[in-house]
Amino acid sequence: MSKKYKIVAVSGSLQRPSRTLVLVHSLLSALEAALPVEIRVIDLGEIAGRLSGALTRSQAPADIEEHIRAIETADLVIAASPVYRASYTGLFKHLFDLVHHEALIDVPVLLAATGGSERHALVIDHQLRPLFSFFQARTLPVGVYAAQSDFDRYEIASEALRTRIALAVDRAVPQLVARAENVTAALVV
Ligand SMILES: Cc1cc2nc3c(=O)[nH]c(=O)nc-3n(C[C@H](O)[C@H](O)[C@H](O)COP(=O)(O)O)c2cc1C
Repeated sequence: MSKKYKIVAVSGSLQRPSRTLVLVHSLLSALEAALPVEIRVIDLGEIAGRLSGALTRSQAPADIEEHIRAIETADLVIAASPVYRASYTGLFKHLFDLVHHEALIDVPVLLAATGGSERHALVIDHQLRPLFSFFQARTLPVGVYAAQSDFDRYEIASEALRTRIALAVDRAVPQLVARAENVTAALVV
């Protein structure tokens, strides 16, 4: 059986329904169409209460510890958040505060965000990218930002957004494959 690439997607939205989650699922569908993948979606809205109660990693309940470990062993991370006050949500940051600071070195990270308007599209480059630069992750050059106007309620309604998602995934695939092969080669040597 061919290798399955481990993809972990974090959606920082605290609400349901969630446009961020819709964007995440659209990115995952495109990746799934391109490669054999094993997917985990970490929906912060679902685990908000228990995650916020864990001030340190040792206090994290077992399922949240499992999510953190999944992030730390992913071949590709999708890091997506709604814009809250011109940044990612506080809980999104809290989750990554619990991730080991060396666990994401060289891991490809696809950045994505949704906001009320186009005005905060630079959240990708000014907020998300620096966070993952701290981790020495390989943030992918093409991120995906979607405004409320790109959706019809909770469905993607913009051809430009669909094109951007396809481009982001096309660019992500070779990075994901290269990273996974490097890790396998390092284990064999
Ligand atoms: C507390 C809060 C703060 C927000 N701040 C911003 C903001 O600074 N800029 C912006 O464009 N949208 C802002 N929004 C709108 C959300 O980013 C937008 O509706 C987003 O798509 C919601 O994603 P979700 O449906 O996944 O929760 C804010 C929404 C909330 C609830």
